Amino acid sequence: MQILAKHKILEKNATLLLVFSFIVVTIGGLVQITPLFYLENTIEKVEGVRPYTPLELVGRDIYVREGCYVCHSQMIRPMRDEVERYGHYSLAAESMYDHPFQWGSKRTGPDLARVGGRYSDEWHLDHLRDPQAVVPESIMPAYGFLADRTIDATHVRDRVQTDAWVGVPYSDEMIAAAAVDFRAQADPNADAEGLLERYPGASQRNFDRQPQLTEMDALIAYLQVLGTMVDFSTFEPDPAR
Ligand code: HEC
Repeated sequence: MQILAKHKILEKNATLLLVFSFIVVTIGGLVQITPLFYLENTIEKVEGVRPYTPLELVGRDIYVREGCYVCHSQMIRPMRDEVERYGHYSLAAESMYDHPFQWGSKRTGPDLARVGGRYSDEWHLDHLRDPQAVVPESIMPAYGFLADRTIDATHVRDRVQTDAWVGVPYSDEMIAAAAVDFRAQADPNADAEGLLERYPGASQRNFDRQPQLTEMDALIAYLQVLGTMVDFSTFEPDPAR
């Protein structure tokens, strides 16, 4: 009762109430924020998540350049309707090497966080060339011109180096081999041993079915890896988190 009587003083004096509210919020804020300064990383490491291959990285740049994120998100929320439609909810670790991240909040088209492996390369080719030919009611624009734009490895090494500077764990070896790996991934006749050693699980093939290396190859390589790095048949969330 006594403490309640004292509380009355606070409740009756707006200025005092404000000052004390401020103190309480400050303490609460510090308790939440201070530990973050002492943690190296707040993202739980998950097996299988690796940096993008140079080709996937270039494909990702094309995805960003073309504004695919304007209509597509890449984050499956842990809600039943989303999980039933798109698959396992997205883990923070799955976008830890994304600069910038592609979570998004606008879904004119479906979420693409787990589109990798859902369709064949041919499906993506047909769909990107003429979305309405595959999904008649689609309002997605066509991106067939990507198959006419050849790309070479001139800036690939610098591109990988840039991501390394912002914290993606590309080793010196990965950076040195960036141009070789870039070309090898889209060439089924190239030796892929080095590529697979550096990027386990990377798929090597001619993504756009043309002899030349094009932006279409890179974009499909990127789409096909989305959401496929973690093996969810064995994944178990850390119960301590
Ligand atoms: C104007 C909005 C818009 C833009 C921009 C857009 N899309 Fe789409 N996208 C859609 C819509 C709507 C659908 C659903 C109908 C369909 O499949 O075409 C879709 C479907 C897709 C699908 C099939 C997804 C699934 O699970 O069935 C993929 C893959 C895709 N888009 C990739 C892309 C890529 C890559 C880009 C950029 C090069 C892009 N989209 C740009 C609207 C858009």
